[in-house]
Amino acid sequence: MNRSGRRKVTVVGAGFVGSTAAQRIIEKGLADVVMVDIAEGIPQGKALDMMESAPVEGFDMAIVGSNSYEATADSDVVVVTAGLPRKPGMSRDDLLKTNAGIVGGVCEQIAKYSPNAILIIVSNPLDAMCHVALKATGFPSNRVIGMAGVLDSARMRHFIADAAKVSVKNVHAFVLGGHGDTMVPLMRYATISGIPVDRFLDKATIDAIADRTRNGGIEIVNYLKTGSAYYAPSSSAVEMVDAILNDRKELLPCAVFLNGEYGVKDLYIGVLAKLGKDGVEKVIELELLPEEQANLDISIAAVKELVTKL
Ligand code: LAC
Repeated sequence: MNRSGRRKVTVVGAGFVGSTAAQRIIEKGLADVVMVDIAEGIPQGKALDMMESAPVEGFDMAIVGSNSYEATADSDVVVVTAGLPRKPGMSRDDLLKTNAGIVGGVCEQIAKYSPNAILIIVSNPLDAMCHVALKATGFPSNRVIGMAGVLDSARMRHFIADAAKVSVKNVHAFVLGGHGDTMVPLMRYATISGIPVDRFLDKATIDAIADRTRNGGIEIVNYLKTGSAYYAPSSSAVEMVDAILNDRKELLPCAVFLNGEYGVKDLYIGVLAKLGKDGVEKVIELELLPEEQANLDISIAAVKELVTKL
């Protein structure tokens, strides 16, 4: 909470994902924002630029930029986007060593100044970075959550709406597993206004959507060449911020530290979780068909292997 009594969100990283997330948070009126980055002048300049848009956009929330963590004190939620993005030819896993150092350092500072905050980790490789954050903060695992499933599911929902020629508002769908090539788009649970998607789309189209979802991140990297996606990633992180700050009890696919669910213990994996004021308030465990479970097991093994490398 701010001294003013308003809610406070820190965004770490003033790059494309961080600054776009910050912009969405203040424009939606969710909270005041502190944007931190090691690059001198960048968070300050972007924050001032956003404040100068307030008279035109008509928002009252405040954003400040800083190079130090003192300004982040007593944040309710912290979104961690720090680290390098990938370039064409790189997998998310290629970022492991570099980003583990960056994310670990950031999270120690966050824990020092905002011991009660809820962390949303966005840096890649996502599932492994959640482990780094959990260890660096010493926070209970309900307060360290990874953003990946909302993004992967948003891509999937867009592809379904586009193929079926229906409003994206009617499309519900989600992805389980790690945020990598092995993620599991659960097509059986995808619906258009509650009606299974296979009533609208043929099998070849559904399979193609699952495949495009799994490769959604690299599709953007290959277009941009100098970095990765940021519009949909920032939207996705901000939906989680909103669910937490407003205690919405919203079911969202997120990377959560599992404690026996799906037969997994002590590992971050993307599952459907209820987000509210306490962060992860419940994991929704679904019955999976043998084939779906087998795919999830492959994804779990891939995340485990990466975490072991840490
Ligand atoms: C993506 C990166 C950010 O999926 O992981 O676009």
